[in-house]
Amino acid sequence: MEPLVEVKNLNVEFDVRDGIVHAVDGVSFTVHRGRTLGVIGESGCGKSITAKTIMQMVPKPGEITSGEVLFHYRDKYDPEGDIEVINITNLDPDGRRIRKIRGGEIGMIFQEPMSSLTPVYTSGTLIGEALHLHRLVPKTVGEEMAQNIKEYRHVTDEEAREISIEMLRKVGIPKPEQRVDSYAHQLSGGQRQRVMIAIALSCRPAMLIADEPTTALDVSIEAQILDLMADLQETVDMAIMFITHDLGVIAEVADEIVVMYMGKQVETADATELYYNPLHPYTRALLKSIPQIGKRSTQRLASIKGMVPDPFNLPSGCVFHPRCPEYMPGKCDRIVPKWTEVEEGHYARCLLYEEV
Ligand SMILES: Nc1ncnc2c1ncn2[C@@H]1O[C@H](COP(=O)(O)OP(=O)(O)OP(=O)(O)O)[C@@H](O)[C@H]1O
Ligand SMILES: [Mg+2]
Repeated sequence: MEPLVEVKNLNVEFDVRDGIVHAVDGVSFTVHRGRTLGVIGESGCGKSITAKTIMQMVPKPGEITSGEVLFHYRDKYDPEGDIEVINITNLDPDGRRIRKIRGGEIGMIFQEPMSSLTPVYTSGTLIGEALHLHRLVPKTVGEEMAQNIKEYRHVTDEEAREISIEMLRKVGIPKPEQRVDSYAHQLSGGQRQRVMIAIALSCRPAMLIADEPTTALDVSIEAQILDLMADLQETVDMAIMFITHDLGVIAEVADEIVVMYMGKQVETADATELYYNPLHPYTRALLKSIPQIGKRSTQRLASIKGMVPDPFNLPSGCVFHPRCPEYMPGKCDRIVPKWTEVEEGHYARCLLYEEV
């Protein structure tokens, strides 16, 4: 397995009127080339902010206070080329370097389709623009991939239009030959979401960040989109970071899973291992909401006993202790659990697994 993005001890804080929210608190994980990392956790636990950090797009007043995001860059059209490790957190958020990475190397499908699609352009213009910036095609007509960088060229306007129509078809937009000339405001919410997916996937990024990409879509379209992602993953060895509340979908797509709670990573393991041997009581509670493993549920996370704590007033010790069925008084409310490798490759942050 080859690392593509390494997130190391990442901390992101929001300094707002009522105090400081530690939105991401010491999170570390690796996304490997061609693999899918699933990120789960209740609303507000820091999933989207973690994803936005990888794109150097933390919204104000958010700030990365420590940690790094290492991107192992290799020109995707030059598989034999050298790898350069870029610390994304050091890049100017408006600079040329990150703009080349965004879209071209790391594509993102946002949770809010309405706000993230410019209404004044047609879908064809939007996809075409992304293609001209980030996509090359083999010089040999009809080939999907070429051997090396010299065998590629930029797309022509006609090709961009053809690829746009093809992508719209692939994401399940009806009458793509007409829809390619539709403006965002003429499309339904679900269609806009699919146009955004088409833009992200048309550039064949090394990594796709999919933040609740299919929640707004109906089940058959969702299945089609997941298949399309799986296809691309195979053709171009794309890595996926898949954020969702839908544990059924995660079970189907993820190779590895990160579980988050209140900005902290509470458990990480291989997906199968996590499903069959969940260690953290929070993960166990989340998993209870899946009716049957492998069967897709449209259900959001089952409610876990107790309230999500006030982010300005976090519980002492383990932040999950007031809701935890395994709560050990005198310990869990006093000691902050450490990130512990309980079994090989299986990490948890819980005093049950620490020698106290
Ligand atoms: N623009 C902002 N201003 C202030 N605080 C913010 C902002 N965005 C996020 N936060 C804080 O960061 C925390 C994490 O937010 P994030 O969007 O990453 O949650 P999430 O896990 O993606 O939730 P959801 O499942 O609802 O999408 C929030 O609870 C909030 O306190
Ligand atoms: Mg989110």
